[in-house]
Amino acid sequence: MDQSSHIAEELYKKNLELTERNKTLALLRKIDEIILSKVTDIEEVVRQIAQAVVAEAGLKAVYIFLLNKKESLLTPHGISLSKSINDVDPNLQRAMFSVKISWNDDSNLIIKAIKERKMYQTESLYNLFKSIINEKACRKIQDTVDMKSFLIYPLVAREEAIGSMIISPREENQPYFAYQKDLIDRLPEVISIALDNSLLYDRIQRANLRLMELDKLKDEFVSLASHELRTPMTAVKSYLWMVLNKSNSLDPQIRSYLEIASAETEHLIKLVQNMLTISRIEGKRLELNIDIVNLFDLVMHSYNTLKVKAGEKNITITLLPYPEKLMVSGDKDKLSEVFENIIGNALKYTPNKGSVSIYFTIEKNKIAARVSDTGPGISKQNLPKLFQKFGRLEEAKQNRTPGTGLGLYISKQIVELHKGTIKVESEVGKGTVFTVYLPMV
Ligand SMILES: Nc1ncnc2c1ncn2[C@@H]1O[C@H](COP(=O)(O)OP(=O)(O)OP(=O)(O)O)[C@@H](O)[C@H]1O
Ligand SMILES: [Mg+2]
Repeated sequence: MDQSSHIAEELYKKNLELTERNKTLALLRKIDEIILSKVTDIEEVVRQIAQAVVAEAGLKAVYIFLLNKKESLLTPHGISLSKSINDVDPNLQRAMFSVKISWNDDSNLIIKAIKERKMYQTESLYNLFKSIINEKACRKIQDTVDMKSFLIYPLVAREEAIGSMIISPREENQPYFAYQKDLIDRLPEVISIALDNSLLYDRIQRANLRLMELDKLKDEFVSLASHELRTPMTAVKSYLWMVLNKSNSLDPQIRSYLEIASAETEHLIKLVQNMLTISRIEGKRLELNIDIVNLFDLVMHSYNTLKVKAGEKNITITLLPYPEKLMVSGDKDKLSEVFENIIGNALKYTPNKGSVSIYFTIEKNKIAARVSDTGPGISKQNLPKLFQKFGRLEEAKQNRTPGTGLGLYISKQIVELHKGTIKVESEVGKGTVFTVYLPMV
C-alpha cells in the first residue's frame, strides 16, 4: 500500500470516528433536551428517549421497561424499533407492547439483570419473553427488525431499581467504534437520571393535585361550617341581648354571667365571619364591588362609628382634614373593614387617656392613610407577626383584649387586592403608625 492510500484510509477511519462521536454528542444533547423540556408525562418522556436513542445512535431497537413496585410488574413504556413490525403483523406489535413480566419471575433474563444489577447479553428475543410471547413470534419479530443480539441493562436511580433498558446494537461486522460502545455504556445511567426525574416530577405533581383537592375540601368545609354556625350564634346573641336589656330584675351575678356569654358569642361570630372571609380570599372567591370611592369620606365613616369607643376610654381621636379630594377605586365595604380594624386596633391597644390621630398624605400618586396612636408600641421582632393569621401578640392575650388575631391578615389581603400596600412603624413605648397606601384615581 502506498503512502497516499494509507493516508486516505486513515482519514476515512478518522472521519467515521468523528461521525460516531458526533452522534454520541447529538444523542446526549437530545436526551438533555427531553429532560429539560416541558414534557413531564412519564410515558411521553420514555417514548421520546427510546425514539431518540434509535434515531440518533443508529441502534436497531430500544425497549425501556419500568418497574411498578406496587403491582410487582415490569411493563414496557417505550419501544422503538428501527423498522416497524406493525406493517408485517399488527398482532406482533400488540404482543410486544402489552408484555407484562412478573417481578417474581426469576427465570426471566430482564428480571435477573435488574435484581443482580448486571448487564446480560443474549442472541434470542425468546430468552427475554419466555412464557409470555411464543418462540415463533419472537423469531418473527427478531427477523423483521433484523436484530442479532440484545444487551439488557438494569436502570437504577438513587440506588433503587426503576426498570430496564434493552438495546439491540448494530452488527459487529459494521464499523463499531469505541465511541459507540462508550455511548451504549453511558446510556443506562443517563436514561436512569432522566426517568428518575420525570418519575419524581410525576409524583410531586400528583401529590400537589391531592393537596389542592384537600385545600379545596378544607375551604368548602370552613365555608359551610361558618355559614351553619353563623345563624344559630346570631340567634343566641339576640336572645342574650333581649334578656340583658329587657329584664330589670336580673340578679347581678346572673347578669354578669350573661354578659360574659354575650361577649363570647360576639367573639365567636366575629371569628366565624373572619374565617369565612379568609376562606374566600384564599380560595380566590372574594369578589370586589368596585366603585370610585372618596377615601376621606369612607375613613370618616369608620371614625364616626368608632368615636364612641374612644369616648369610653377617654382617648382623644382626631381626623385631620385634607384639602383635596382623595379618590380611589375600590370596594366600599371591604375598605371600610380595613379602616375599622386599624382604627379599632389603635383604640383597643392604646390605654385610657391616650390619643389616636388619622391623617392623609399623597406620595408618588398614592394616597397614604395613616393611623397613629400613643399605645404601647410593638417590638421589632414582633412586627412580622402582625400580618400573619392569628398573629395576636402576647400583650394582647395577657390583657385579655378581645380579638381574633385575623383582622390585620384580612386587611392586608384586602389592601393588596386593591393594588395597595400596608405598612407599620412602631417603637416600644412610643406608639404605632399604620399606613395604608392606595393608588389614587
Ligand atoms: N395599634 C396597635 N398597637 C399595638 N399592638 C397592635 C396594634 N394593632 C395591632 N396590634 C397587635 O397585632 C395583633 C394583630 O392584630 P389584628 O387586628 O390582626 O387582630 P386583633 O385585633 O387581635 O383581632 P381582630 O382584629 O381579628 O378582632 C393584635 O392582637 C395586637 O397584638
Ligand atoms: Mg384587630
